[in-house]
Amino acid sequence: MSSKIRLGILGGGGDSLIGVLHRIASAMYDKYQIVGGVFNPDWDENIGFAERIGLPTNRIYQDFDTLVHEELKLPKEERMQVVSILTPNFLHFPMAKKLLENGFNVICEKPMTTTYEEAKVLNETLKKAKTVFAVTYTYTGYPMIRQMREMILNGELGAIQKVDAQYYQGWINPIIHDKEKRSSTWRLNPEKSGISCCIGDIGTHAFDMLEYVSGLKVESILADLNYLYEDNKMDIDGTVLLRCSNNVKGVICTSQIATGEENNFIVKVYGDKAGLKWEQENPNYLYLMKDGKPLRVLKPGHSYNSELSLDGTKLPPGHPEGIFDSMGNIYKGVAKAINKESYNHGEFPTMIDGLRGMSFIEKAVESHQKGNIWVTIENGS
Ligand SMILES: NC(=O)c1ccc[n+]([C@@H]2O[C@H](COP(=O)([O-])OP(=O)(O)OC[C@H]3O[C@@H](n4cnc5c(N)ncnc54)[C@H](O)[C@@H]3O)[C@@H](O)[C@H]2O)c1
Repeated sequence: MSSKIRLGILGGGGDSLIGVLHRIASAMYDKYQIVGGVFNPDWDENIGFAERIGLPTNRIYQDFDTLVHEELKLPKEERMQVVSILTPNFLHFPMAKKLLENGFNVICEKPMTTTYEEAKVLNETLKKAKTVFAVTYTYTGYPMIRQMREMILNGELGAIQKVDAQYYQGWINPIIHDKEKRSSTWRLNPEKSGISCCIGDIGTHAFDMLEYVSGLKVESILADLNYLYEDNKMDIDGTVLLRCSNNVKGVICTSQIATGEENNFIVKVYGDKAGLKWEQENPNYLYLMKDGKPLRVLKPGHSYNSELSLDGTKLPPGHPEGIFDSMGNIYKGVAKAINKESYNHGEFPTMIDGLRGMSFIEKAVESHQKGNIWVTIENGS
């Protein structure tokens, strides 16, 4: 029998954005085998997609409840060990909760839930389940982001004095300016997406990333969000001021109406000795900046990188790696945890990261709605 981890997938069908990323990531290090799932709520689409990608159809289920019910009938050594949740946001919580209650490991897309309250319940469920739970803040898997984290933790920037993340996209322009489209996409529907669009979708990446690379905790925030139209209930742009631990201040700028921008995510951390800058659209370059010194560019795969960074590099220097590799590294870390091997805590984002992300979303909306006031981020424990 294969020693690969048996993986089930929820959502991520042929019509989805994120499905292919997870499928390729799971195959990347030969650690997982997709054994079944529910790719689509429509049966013909669901089974048709499984056939198209060459999966055996005996464990493609009608719906999520049937998946859990039928999988539990299988002996443990055949049952799915981990299930990835790639559905629209409102399904993450009920699916993750039931999976944890029934002993499955879970890989969950972000935002983890639709409310902070749900996130707290999920955290309690995980404490009882004692299984592995990961939230796919995908960008934390990039080798040069891992390098950034390690350099900062090692004090190479000195005392941090400023953190800054910008995440600009323009994809929602054709939707937001069209009355019919803006009322029919799930991402602008609070019942399916949660209370926020831009902050929930990309602001959470920026928030998690700043905490991941800097080691700081964001303690309080002040948000100014933009909804553009009165009939639109969801933010599609926002700026958030940050007050972090160690009295560090910072800012997160996010937008889905930054016309012409694609996936322009830039992370910057400045210390009193040096600064580091990384750009998602050019992820193999990490810029090290020092007053009065020439700019240095660090790249993946070189021995000067940390163990954590090198663990996420598969090829010799000069072979560009990208978003698939980044997600692949997260899956690799989760595989180590499931197989009870030792791993670095920077290898995959956890429940606590998901929980803090949910607090960030709710507090950003609260800050904006109360007239742009400072609000405190919940601790997440
Ligand atoms: N980590 C990242 O960088 C990243 C990037 C994009 C999307 N996402 C997240 O991934 C999730 C999905 O986003 P997307 O853009 O792929 O959405 P999408 O709308 O493109 O695809 C959603 C998929 O879920 C399926 N689905 C819907 N209801 C289902 C159900 N009841 N059972 C099974 N499948 C069902 C749909 O058929 C579709 O295949 C969201 O939570 C989103 O925030 C994360």
